Amino acid sequence: MRRNIVAGNWKMNKNAEETEDLLNELIDKLPHDVEAQIIVAPTFVNLSSAADHLEFTNITVAAQNMHQAESGAYTGEISASMLTSIGVRTVILGHSERRAYFHENDALLASKVDTALSHDMEVIFCFGEELKDRQNNQHFNVVENQLRDGLFHISKASWEHIVLAYEPVWAIGTGETASPEQAQEMHHFIRETVRSVFGSDVAEDVSILYGGSVKPDNAKEIFSKPDVDGGLIGGAALKADDFVAIVNGIR
Ligand code: 13P
Repeated sequence: MRRNIVAGNWKMNKNAEETEDLLNELIDKLPHDVEAQIIVAPTFVNLSSAADHLEFTNITVAAQNMHQAESGAYTGEISASMLTSIGVRTVILGHSERRAYFHENDALLASKVDTALSHDMEVIFCFGEELKDRQNNQHFNVVENQLRDGLFHISKASWEHIVLAYEPVWAIGTGETASPEQAQEMHHFIRETVRSVFGSDVAEDVSILYGGSVKPDNAKEIFSKPDVDGGLIGGAALKADDFVAIVNGIR
């Protein structure tokens, strides 16, 4: 079901103590009456304690990544059942930093999506063009290909477990955000692309988040666009006051 979502991707930040401190601040400060699902994605080693800490709150915990295999000789990796066994049922897949620094391609991501779905997990599927793609007017093609090759093999029924996160690479951590009009233009294109393959029910139900330098002072305007259903927040999710202000931008 389409819903507003504000998710904080903490990336490789916050040790155990800092994680607990930030979670406590969020529990204190996040509004209870906002019509949005709130998600936080701390790093793997702090996921279990975060899931315990947030068990009786309205904040959901997500993992930032996951391996595609069920188990086995994959030193340093984390499986779906490890995540679900500690109460983590949401995973971010396809983040541009995974694609760029860890060489995750569309085929690999397609198999990670399959594994997550087979464990009944919710997937926040990230994608977005690089600056050169936009400069060459290829951004729509790039996004369409990422969706088709990484995600569009799933069944229509599986879409209830999918959240889309459009994150233009040139806007991530740069302080340069897509304008609300650029975000709306791409989100509309994404929804129409989903509609053309999976039909209107799926297209209208899927939540599409925007990510890339969302801050307290630009969140409200971006979230006000009709095809933007919330945000995936990096740097500003590391400060409780900023994250809370962004969540309040959804109203
Ligand atoms: P910033 O908000 O720091 O630009 O990061 C966005 C992001 O990558 C969220 O996944």
